Amino acid sequence: MLSPCEADAQDGQADGQSPPAPGGPAAPLIAPLLSVDGVTLQYQTHDRVVTATQGVSFNVYTADRFVLLGPSGCGKSSLLKCVAGFTKPSAGEVRLKGQAVSTSGPDRMMVFQDFDQLLPWKTVLQNVMFPMIVSRAFPRREIKERARAAISRVKLAGFADAYPHMLSGGMKQRAAIARAMAMEPAVLLMDEPFAALDALTRRRMQEELLQLWDDVRFTVLFVTHSIEEAIIVGSRILVLSPHPGRVKAELNAQAFGREHLGGAEFAALSQRIHAMLFAEDGHGH
Ligand SMILES: Nc1ncnc2c1ncn2[C@@H]1O[C@H](COP(=O)(O)OP(=O)(O)OP(=O)(O)O)[C@@H](O)[C@H]1O
Ligand SMILES: [Mg+2]
Repeated sequence: MLSPCEADAQDGQADGQSPPAPGGPAAPLIAPLLSVDGVTLQYQTHDRVVTATQGVSFNVYTADRFVLLGPSGCGKSSLLKCVAGFTKPSAGEVRLKGQAVSTSGPDRMMVFQDFDQLLPWKTVLQNVMFPMIVSRAFPRREIKERARAAISRVKLAGFADAYPHMLSGGMKQRAAIARAMAMEPAVLLMDEPFAALDALTRRRMQEELLQLWDDVRFTVLFVTHSIEEAIIVGSRILVLSPHPGRVKAELNAQAFGREHLGGAEFAALSQRIHAMLFAEDGHGH
């Protein structure tokens, strides 16, 4: 197993090639599933241009649990929206399987922080079926069965016919995850999906997400501003500097799960990230 911080690239010099190909330098490099390449994101407001991120680059590989970690306003949601194809970069490019991303698509499904992302007039089952019906990504006759399977996977089988207002916040998030997962996206995009939950539910949801990952091995790009959540959920963590977001470091957190919480190595990695996030930016930016 890799040591916690092996394959790190620090202080804006993320190597973009990790995970290292097995077998040493002679082994062929694995092509990234998703490439974010020098992405600068800007918003035009009525009186000025806001730069949300500056030249951000990273590669996500199949089955990565890739976390974007950084303080509020560093452009995490903006990056996710750009990967989703909702916004366009003012410089740089996003590529999925080598193809430039220019629009949204069913291959990139998003789960938001907001509990109210389900359609309130549809049941859980109907909500999960909805994108499959609209996108025509699957044969019509398979859709209900696929939806039921996704709902079971997130432990909501008994609530398939319930409406969103009958569910707790955690259950609504499970339904939103089921809806996204049922589409079998190439990359699941999650924007602080557990941030609005109470501590116990958040913890349970992190464990369930990891269990789901163990079962399905999907690829997820996960945004959080919690260091602890980043280390527990992530296999790799991209640490972003404050506004505008730039890459500070890319860290390997593969070796850590919740069971390591409280351990010396977990604490050391957490401290290291903490120091990065709160360090003065000494790079003259
Ligand atoms: N639609 C918009 N118009 C103008 N500025 C925007 C818009 N959306 C985001 N911004 C600005 O871009 C910057 C990055 O915002 P973003 O929401 O991506 O940050 P974030 O890292 O997700 O923050 P948080 O952790 O608070 O969710 C902020 O300065 C924000 O004010
Ligand atoms: Mg955000």
